[in-house]
Amino acid sequence: MKKFVCHTNTLQDHQTYGFQIDLGNEELDIIVLRQGKEIRAWLNHCPHLGIPLNWQPDKFLSLEGTHIQCSTHGALFTLEEGYCIAGPCRGQSLIALQTEVDSDGNLYLLLQQ
Ligand code: FES
Repeated sequence: MKKFVCHTNTLQDHQTYGFQIDLGNEELDIIVLRQGKEIRAWLNHCPHLGIPLNWQPDKFLSLEGTHIQCSTHGALFTLEEGYCIAGPCRGQSLIALQTEVDSDGNLYLLLQQ
């Protein structure tokens, strides 16, 4: 299954965005990060308590912008892998999602269903 997320020209470099993807019977809460030409996506689900990472829309980065940070207990995740390097869920990872950008620049989420 392929779900439209947004057009990539709405994503600024080195910024994170939260999206709710409608799956019919549920919504998927996701994080999208743009770094240059790289676009990465994860479930917005902290491995520590299974709750959303952010408390403000689209705000997932640490103050320095070097990591994704959980707003509840401060866990830090790498921008490349979503791997937790500090905090209560150290050693665990965010759940990575597959994406695709078509020739018109539309970003899609690829789901195995
Ligand atoms: S809920 Fe994310 S670090 Fe505790």
